[in-house]
Amino acid sequence: MNTIRKLDETYIAKTYGRFPLTLVSGKGSVAKDPEGNEYIDLGSGIGVNLFGYSDDIWKQAVIDQLDALQHTSNLYYTGPCAKLAEVLCTRTGMKKVFFCNSGAEANECAVKAARRYGQLHKGEDCYTIITLKDSFHGRTLTTLAATGQDGFHQLFTPLTPGFVYAEANNIDSVKELLKKHKVCAVMLECVQGEGGVNALSKEFVQQIAELAHEEDFLIVVDEVQTGNGRTGTLYSYMQYDFMPDIVTTAKGIGGGLPIGVTMLGEKVQDIFHPGDNGSTFGGNPAVCAGALSNLERLDDAMLADVCRKGDLIRASLKDAKGVASLSGLGLMIGIEPTHAKAADIAAKCLMKGVLVLTAKGNKVRLLPALNIPDELLEKALDVLKEVLAEE
Ligand SMILES: Cc1ncc(COP(=O)(O)O)c(C=O)c1O
Repeated sequence: MNTIRKLDETYIAKTYGRFPLTLVSGKGSVAKDPEGNEYIDLGSGIGVNLFGYSDDIWKQAVIDQLDALQHTSNLYYTGPCAKLAEVLCTRTGMKKVFFCNSGAEANECAVKAARRYGQLHKGEDCYTIITLKDSFHGRTLTTLAATGQDGFHQLFTPLTPGFVYAEANNIDSVKELLKKHKVCAVMLECVQGEGGVNALSKEFVQQIAELAHEEDFLIVVDEVQTGNGRTGTLYSYMQYDFMPDIVTTAKGIGGGLPIGVTMLGEKVQDIFHPGDNGSTFGGNPAVCAGALSNLERLDDAMLADVCRKGDLIRASLKDAKGVASLSGLGLMIGIEPTHAKAADIAAKCLMKGVLVLTAKGNKVRLLPALNIPDELLEKALDVLKEVLAEE
């Protein structure tokens, strides 16, 4: 065991099951261990390193801002967060933005906004939020409660009350809950990531949008994993032809530095007042400068290329030995193996120099950097197919 691993196992709380791999550096889609062995990364830090490791353009944007002003408090105005908010609102049609540091925190803010909307428009007792089974919304007590997976609920009770769970792609299940509870919002991921890389059907999402209109509840779309070009559009809801009331994102927008974003649509744009929410690091200028540079690069050509690479992966794996089915959108891909355990596939790929992720339901999950070169992608897919085909 190397020194880093020993220190980690001695001093880090055991909340993670780590692979036996230490990473010390990386460039683009290739990471290196202490011995200089190279790994093609198809997970990009769980969808965070949008343009790979140590991307020059993103890095320069962050460094330039670090030279000017690395942090101030939210008592003062700064340029990068104001500009980032403008770009996000212009490109989504949302009206206001709250910045924080993670996906869970962005979802916490969304829950606050939805509850406030319920209180103001439908009364004090209108605070229930419907989320979906197999969703994942974070690890704080409230976002664990929002997460529709029993396995996450048992250890830390009592969780925040006010969450009920509908079946994905079953509108009757949503209607049943609407009859029983005073609902202020439905919260969903258009493609459930941790829950198995399963895309919701367009019909289901549009039926929810119709119900939201009829019954005056909000739709919150969690784009923490699906957002920022990952699925081939800037945000995945854009492929579902409806307008959410709140959009949350994190991960890839920061390119490797922590950021969470809650975008508030027309109905909730004025829901917050000074003191209602806050974050010491929220809107940090260096993080926002990097995020701005990332968003600038997510133009039509880049998004088209995400779709092309997604298609390339699907075509390569479609009839491959050991693949039962494929799921997901764009460069968010789930692979159901015919017989092997996804965790074993990930471990074997690592031994052969390729990093992949897993997801619920025995899925291998791929979230490569959006700019991964075709040659590297093909090389990594050859390894993955070889492993999938093993008896
Ligand atoms: C859809 C979704 N929501 C929320 C989160 C939580 O984000 P964070 O770990 O940044 O708090 C995640 C993390 O995987 C996620 O995939």
